[in-house]
Order: sequence, then C-alpha cells, then structure tokens
Amino acid sequence: MQRLPPVLKTCALGAVLALATTARAGDLVFHLTAHGNVTAGVNRLSGVPRGHCLQCHPERQTPVLSSPVLFTVNNNTLCFTCHAATGAGQFYAGQTAYASSSHATSANMYWPGPTPVARPATDAGKCLNCHTPHGARDAQGLISNLERFREEAACLGCHDATGPASTNISAELAKRAAHPVATVTGVHLVGESAATAFGTGKRHAECVDCHNPHAGTAAGPLTGTSRVRVTNGVAGAAPSFTLVPATDTTAVKEYELCFKCHSSWTTAPAGQTDLARVLNPANESMHPVEGVGKNTSAQMAGSLDGGTGLPHLSPTTVLTCADCHSNDDLPRTVSLVAGYTGAVPRGPHGSSASGGNAAFSNAMLRAPYRKDLKPKAEAYTVNDFTLCLVCHASGPFGTTGTTARTDTAFRFHGFHLRSISGKGSGGQDISVAGAGQGNAICRECHYNTHGTRGAPWSGNATYTRGVNFSPNIVGAGGTGQPTWAPGGTVGTGSCRLSCHGMNHAPETY
Ligand code: HEC
Ligand code: HEC
Ligand code: HEC
Ligand code: HEC
Ligand code: HEC
Ligand code: HEC
Ligand code: HEC
Ligand code: HEC
Ligand code: HEC
Repeated sequence: MQRLPPVLKTCALGAVLALATTARAGDLVFHLTAHGNVTAGVNRLSGVPRGHCLQCHPERQTPVLSSPVLFTVNNNTLCFTCHAATGAGQFYAGQTAYASSSHATSANMYWPGPTPVARPATDAGKCLNCHTPHGARDAQGLISNLERFREEAACLGCHDATGPASTNISAELAKRAAHPVATVTGVHLVGESAATAFGTGKRHAECVDCHNPHAGTAAGPLTGTSRVRVTNGVAGAAPSFTLVPATDTTAVKEYELCFKCHSSWTTAPAGQTDLARVLNPANESMHPVEGVGKNTSAQMAGSLDGGTGLPHLSPTTVLTCADCHSNDDLPRTVSLVAGYTGAVPRGPHGSSASGGNAAFSNAMLRAPYRKDLKPKAEAYTVNDFTLCLVCHASGPFGTTGTTARTDTAFRFHGFHLRSISGKGSGGQDISVAGAGQGNAICRECHYNTHGTRGAPWSGNATYTRGVNFSPNIVGAGGTGQPTWAPGGTVGTGSCRLSCHGMNHAPETY
C-alpha cells in the first residue's frame, strides 16, 4: 500500500466543498483551473466534490499502480478516462485522433528540460509533456489550458536547435521575414472561430493557429486546424466562406488554412491581396492554387518544363501557397515543397530570401525575387528572379534575340530583361509613374503574382496570361491606363503604354 503525499493528505482529510476551492497544488493555482473548478471541474466519483484532488488521487492504493497515488497508472489512459472525446474548446480532437498524431507515436516526444525538469524517455507521447493536471503560472499569472508554457514557448522547447524534435522552427522565426508567432503575444484564444478574432486589431499567428499538436502528422502537419472553405462565384467575385472547425480531422487544403487570415473572410491589413478572390479558378488568370490554371498553351508547358526544380511541372499542376512561401533553405532543385523529404523544415515559418536587400521582396518567399526597378546599366541576372525560375524556364530571359520560342509566347521577354537599360529616366520606385531607366523586371508586367484580378490598374483585372502592369507603367502618351491584348494566335499580341521612356502606341508581337 502507498500513502498519499502529505500535501495531498491535508486536502483529502477535509473532503468538503469549501476545501476544494482553496486546495493548492502545482504552482498553487489548481483552484483556478478547469480541473479545480467546483462547478465544472473534475468529476469521476459521485461521493467526492467536483474539482477535488480526490477525484484523481485516492487516499490509498493497493497494489501500487503509480507514483504518486492515482486512480490508475500514470499515463494517458488516466487522461482518457475523462478525455476520450473532443474537448470543450473544440481543439483537442479526442483520443482516436491523438493516437495517430506524430506527438503520440514519436519515441522522441518527451520534454527535454531543464525548466520544468526533463521527463524520462519512457514518458514519450504523454499529454504531461505539454500539460500539467494542476495548472501552472508565470509572471503574467495563470497559464491557460493547463499548459506548462505560454503559446509558442511550449513548442519551441522541443522544435529548436537542440531538439528532441528533428525540425528547428525556432531558427525559422528568427529570419528576416517570419509569421508573427513570437512577436505577438496574448491575442490568441483557444477555440477562436469568429472572423473578427483574426482581423484588424487582433492580427496574430501562433503555432496552434496552423497546427493541432493533438492531431498533426508528418504527412499531414496541418490536420485538425480550423480553416475556411470557399464556394466560388463568378470571376472576380469574393467567394462565400464556411468555417471548418478544428474537430474536422479530414485532410486540410493548405489554402483554406491561409484564408482564415489572408482573405476577405476576415480583415487583413490595407493593401494586402484578398487571396480568396484573386485565386478563384473562375478568374481569367491566376497561379493555380485552388485548381488547375487557365494557360494550356504549348509555350506554357515549355516554360514549366525548364525550371530548376524537379520534377518539372505542367499546365495541370496545382500548387500550394508554401510552394512559393516557404523556408529559403529548401533546395531549388525541388519544385513542389510537399514532395520534399529532406531535413530542412518545410512551411511558411520564416525566410531570409531577401538577404536584407530592400530591392527584394520580404514576403517570406522560398527564394529571392526582385521587387524594385533595376538601376541603369545593371546587367540581367537569374539571381534577381530565382523564385520564378524554380518553376519557369530561364531560357526566354537568357537571350537578347526576339525570334519565336517554344518556351514562351512572348518572344520579347529576353529583350526587355536585357536590352533596354539606359532608355528613359527617373528613379527605381516601381510605384512612381514614368520611373525606370534600367532593364525590366518581371513585376513590371506581372505585378500581382497571384493573379490578374489583383492588378493595380483596374483595366488589367480581366487579363489572361498573368499580364498586369505595375504603377510605374502608364498609358500611351503618358496618360491613362496601360493596356495589353492577346492576338488571334498564341505568340502574338499588342501593348499600348508608356514605360522606360518608350511609347508603345501600340507595339505588336
Ligand atoms: C485530473 C487529475 C488530478 C487532479 C484533480 C489532481 N492531480 Fe495531482 N497529479 C495528477 C497526475 C496525473 C500526477 C502525476 C504528474 C506527473 O507525472 O507529472 C499528479 C501528481 C501529484 C503530486 C506529485 C508531485 C507532482 O506535482 O507531480 C502531488 C503532490 C499532487 N499531484 C497533488 C495534488 C493535489 C494537492 C491536488 C488537488 C489540489 C491534485 N493533485 C489534483 C493528477 C491529478
Ligand atoms: C476525472 C476526470 C478528468 C481527468 C482524469 C482529466 N481531466 Fe482534464 N478536464 C476534465 C474536465 C471536467 C475539464 C473541464 C471541461 C473540459 O474542458 O472538457 C477538463 C479540462 C481539461 C483541459 C482544458 C483546460 C482549460 O483551461 O480549458 C485540459 C488541457 C485537460 N483537461 C487536460 C488533461 C490531462 C492532460 C489529463 C491527464 C493528466 C486530464 N485532463 C485528466 C476532467 C478530467
Ligand atoms: C505537444 C503538446 C501537447 C500535447 C502532447 C497535448 N496537448 Fe493538449 N493542448 C496543447 C496546447 C498548446 C493547447 C492550447 C491550444 C490553444 O491555445 O489554442 C492544448 C489544449 C488542450 C485542451 C483544451 C482545448 C479543448 O479542445 O478543450 C484539451 C482538453 C487538451 N489539450 C487535452 C489534451 C490531452 C488529453 C492530451 C493527451 C492525450 C493532450 N492535450 C496532449 C498542447 C498539447
Ligand atoms: C516534448 C517535445 C515536443 C513538444 C513540446 C512539441 N513537439 Fe511537435 N514534435 C515533437 C516530435 C519528437 C515530433 C516527431 C517528428 C520529429 O521527430 O521531428 C513532433 C512532430 C510535430 C509535427 C508533425 C510534423 C512532423 O515532423 O512529424 C508538428 C506539426 C508539430 N510537432 C508541431 C508542434 C506544435 C505546434 C507544438 C506546440 C503546441 C509542438 N509540436 C510541441 C516534439 C515536440
Ligand atoms: C492565424 C492567422 C494566420 C494564418 C492562418 C496565416 N497567416 Fe500569414 N500572416 C498572418 C499575420 C498576422 C501576418 C503579418 C502581416 C499581416 O498582418 O498580414 C502574416 C503574414 C504573412 C505573409 C507576409 C505578408 C507580407 O506582407 O509580407 C505571408 C506571405 C503569409 N502570411 C503567408 C501565409 C500562408 C501561405 C498561410 C497558410 C499556410 C498563412 N499565411 C496563414 C497571419 C496568418
Ligand atoms: C507562384 C508563387 C506564389 C504562390 C503560389 C502564392 N504566392 Fe503569395 N506572393 C508571391 C510573391 C512573389 C509575393 C510578393 C509580391 C511582391 O512583393 O510583389 C507574394 C506576396 C504575398 C503576400 C503579401 C502581399 C500581398 O499580395 O498581399 C501574402 C499575404 C501572400 N503572398 C500570401 C499567399 C497565400 C496565402 C497564398 C496561397 C493561398 C499565396 N500567397 C500563394 C508568390 C506566391
Ligand atoms: C501561418 C501558419 C503556420 C504557423 C504560424 C506555423 N506553421 Fe508550422 N507549418 C505550416 C505549414 C503550411 C506547414 C507545412 C508545409 C508543407 O507541407 O508544405 C508547416 C510545417 C510544420 C512542421 C513540419 C515540417 C516538416 O518539414 O516536416 C512542423 C514541425 C511545424 N510546422 C511546426 C511549427 C511550430 C512549432 C510552429 C510555431 C513555432 C509553427 N509550425 C507555426 C504553417 C504554419
Ligand atoms: C515587358 C513585359 C514583360 C516582362 C518584363 C516579363 N513578362 Fe512574362 N509575359 C509578358 C507577356 C505580354 C506575356 C503573355 C504572352 C502571350 O501569351 O501572348 C507573358 C507571359 C509569361 C509567362 C507565361 C508563359 C509564356 O508564354 O511565357 C510566364 C511564365 C512569364 N511571362 C514569366 C515571366 C517572368 C518569370 C518574368 C521575369 C523574369 C517575366 N515574365 C517578365 C510580358 C512580360
Ligand atoms: C512553384 C512553382 C511556380 C513558381 C515559383 C512560379 N510559378 Fe508561375 N506558374 C506556375 C504554374 C504551374 C503555372 C501554370 C498555370 C497555368 O497553366 O495556367 C504558372 C503560370 C504563370 C504565368 C502565366 C499565367 C497565365 O494565366 O497564363 C505567369 C505570367 C507566371 N507564372 C509568372 C510567374 C512569376 C513572375 C513568378 C515569380 C514571381 C512565378 N511565376 C513563380 C508555377 C510557378
């Protein structure tokens, strides 16, 4: 027979309701937790008050099952006695989902310490690596959800350089661009599901906004997260949205997760693209994220057949956001991020692709992408557009020649990227009309990478072929909107505009 620890005994002796409200354990906050609550707390035994220590710690135990004395062995079956089903916050997905998660199955999922003290390897998979049944507190007070740590601190204790998890997410968050996981605190709430919880004034992104530690697996790291499903309308229209709760542990389409914070379901910062509207597959042109794209030309196939990433893509490929927004350490010989199985952690956690150069985009891209105009006399370099060239052939840009090609329908691609330096005047700001005296960059003619419905010039919003001009390009003669029209056959078209001091009134190809 084993006796209760003295601290417990003092509370067990006076097994009355009044005592349960003041009974202390752990960091002396038990009575403030969901377990210690006298009206809604633990309630296994009808003869013992709700929220009382005795619900889990019987006075004596024969034979000895566990240390300390508990009503059953000290492992997850104890928790499952009361937590077989989904949690009240709808985030804990239940016993069955937990059983197949990486955290339950990995032999390395045990707390490394030092604070709180390390758990033994035999504790791998236990809820107790992240939770304490008694509650804990820090300088800010009670830590919610019976967690041992606040927010990302719990995750990064294992997902850092020293492990035991194999993926170092801590290093990703320290990069030049990162989701505000560590920089925003105290905003996330468990079970939050209102659109306003993710919008203006509440912008945040904790690990648990994108992952469910009770359900995620190596093949499905996003399993068990809440997300918004779209029902698309006609081209250009914002879709209607339906929230899918975290308790739905069916396969997650990554973009549905991103739409929780980056679409008009909520309120994203001014100037940010409504990605649900711009990626609608009914639109004239968009990168293919929700479904296959609109460009089925042989030249499109040729373009995709020459990227640095393998396997080469095709006009029927569907991408994820993370194929462009991901870890910049991923090899550029890999096309689709989901197909990558190496040691570099995938996902849009952070990126230093800009290299600190303000002329390059800092939008958490997996490879460098020049966003500002080039200065006069600077030669073309593939390093300005590494991101695009992971999937698209560099051939069209590798020549000053203007003869027809099989890997692009715009035979003047190379001409613009290599041969126009010195023409025109003005600065390097892509938003200043008339600016540009260096060689062209992709963004001048493909300003919104996601799709043409996000074009800065209203008249460009229904264009095909990803063509939408930047604000430094203006209409022919210097006034009005720049325009482009495809010709009767693929490989022909015309532009009416003024850029880099050149009037196209129109120019045809
Ligand atoms: C929901 C069930 C549950 C309730 C209620 C509960 N405990 Fe525990 N207690 C546990 C578990 C499980 C452990 C083992 C913890 C571990 O292995 O980390 C434990 C461990 C302990 C220990 C050993 C030292 C430690 O902290 O690990 C003491 C002492 C203790 N509990 C006291 C109490 C007291 C006092 C109360 C009431 C104020 C209480 N417990 C309420 C489940 C519970
Ligand atoms: C005797 C029943 C019982 C046992 C055993 C039990 N719980 Fe609970 N637990 C509850 C009740 C009741 C609640 C409050 C209602 C709810 O959230 O489902 C709760 C709530 C929770 C919460 C949510 C806390 C919050 O602030 O909302 C967590 C986390 C939790 N339990 C973890 C555990 C873990 C881990 C174990 C095993 C060490 C465990 N529980 C064992 C009954 C139990
Ligand atoms: C890897 C860490 C980790 C492990 C392991 C873990 N949890 Fe959690 N759990 C969390 C975090 C973090 C939250 C808070 C989520 C939030 O803030 O949105 C949470 C929240 C909860 C909640 C409250 C949300 C709800 O749906 O009511 C319950 C209940 C819960 N966990 C139970 C469990 C049980 C039972 C186990 C073991 C079978 C377990 N957890 C294992 C990290 C973990
Ligand atoms: C006690 C250590 C520990 C803690 C705490 C922890 N993890 Fe893990 N996590 C692991 C281990 C071990 C794996 C299995 C894969 C591996 O070894 O890297 C894993 C796997 C995962 C996976 C699945 C992807 C994969 O590589 O299998 C995700 C997603 C994940 N963790 C997210 C989180 C989040 C979010 C938190 C915080 C709420 C968290 N982890 C807390 C140790 C931990
Ligand atoms: C829970 C909310 C949330 C979710 C879910 C989310 N994000 Fe974010 N994201 C943010 C916040 C907050 C920022 C900081 C800027 C802002 O407020 O938009 C941000 C910033 C970004 C940026 C940088 C934007 C810039 O202006 O440079 C990119 C790119 C991005 N997220 C991509 C994604 C992708 C891809 C997904 C889906 C895998 C995703 N996000 C899911 C909240 C979220
Ligand atoms: C084909 C590559 C590609 C894909 C796929 C892609 N993005 Fe982007 N995204 C970019 C590029 C390039 C930029 C930077 C644009 C710039 O600086 O001109 C960007 C910028 C952003 C920004 C900040 C600026 C803005 O336009 O709002 C957010 C937020 C963002 N992306 C989120 C997402 C989300 C969410 C998805 C999936 C639903 C996604 N992206 C899919 C390439 C991509
Ligand atoms: C804005 C959403 C978002 C946030 C916030 C976020 N992640 Fe992720 N994470 C992802 C996505 C998306 C993937 C999967 C990428 C893929 O499969 O292409 C991923 C992948 C992972 C993986 C698996 C990596 C691999 O290569 O197997 C782990 C582990 C992980 N995240 C842990 C974390 C931890 C820990 C945190 C907090 C410190 C966190 N994530 C924050 C979106 C997010
Ligand atoms: C001077 C304007 C201009 C610049 C600069 C430009 N493009 Fe284009 N691009 C076009 C036009 C116009 C089309 C449409 C051709 C057609 O279908 O008639 C096009 C089409 C494309 C296509 C579709 C496949 C094809 O037919 O080639 C891809 C991919 C593409 N561009 C990538 C890029 C990349 C990557 C860059 C920067 C390295 C870039 N473009 C720079 C004007 C431009
Ligand atoms: C991860 C792979 C990937 C990356 C990176 C990528 N693209 Fe694409 N892109 C595609 C695919 C796949 C299509 C085919 C869509 C279709 O067939 O309609 C495409 C199509 C296009 C089109 C033609 C769209 C149309 O409707 O005709 C343009 C223009 C384009 N991309 C430009 C770019 C630029 C500029 C970049 C760099 C900022 C870039 N892409 C980065 C995969 C990628």
